[in-house]
Amino acid sequence: QTIFVLNGPNLNLLGTREPEIYGSDTLDDIARMLDEQAKKLGVTIDMRQTNHEGVLVDWLHEAREVGAKAVLLNAGAYTHTSIALLDAIKAIGVPVIEVHLSDPSQREEFRHISYVGMAAIDEVKGLGPRSYSVALAKAAAL
Ligand code: DQA
Repeated sequence: QTIFVLNGPNLNLLGTREPEIYGSDTLDDIARMLDEQAKKLGVTIDMRQTNHEGVLVDWLHEAREVGAKAVLLNAGAYTHTSIALLDAIKAIGVPVIEVHLSDPSQREEFRHISYVGMAAIDEVKGLGPRSYSVALAKAAAL
């Protein structure tokens, strides 16, 4: 039972990137935390990051090919722009949970639209790294 944890652009810079918004934990810190949690939940996670929109599309397709149980998706700014991600989520038939460290609805207007959210089954946002933990618990319970 594998759960994909897919991260989009600029999330490789977590820890140093706008820490007042995103906190000081790195993506590796979050990966370690999720690995521990996954063990307790009896699931496996496959966590990845890319700065490229098409790679996220390919990974969503892969989630279907390997029969992943669910996908946690923090698509970064592509959340707010990518019809390709919306279409991919609709196409794969694997439940996707939208994840954000910050709460985009409390930020600039251009972050208020979420194409990912139009197809995701659930969202967890605004909890910092804990957004990922809460989302993982939800995914494991599906
Ligand atoms: C983010 C929120 C997005 O608006 C932003 O573009 C990001 C990070 C978050 O996790 O809070 O890159 O997805």
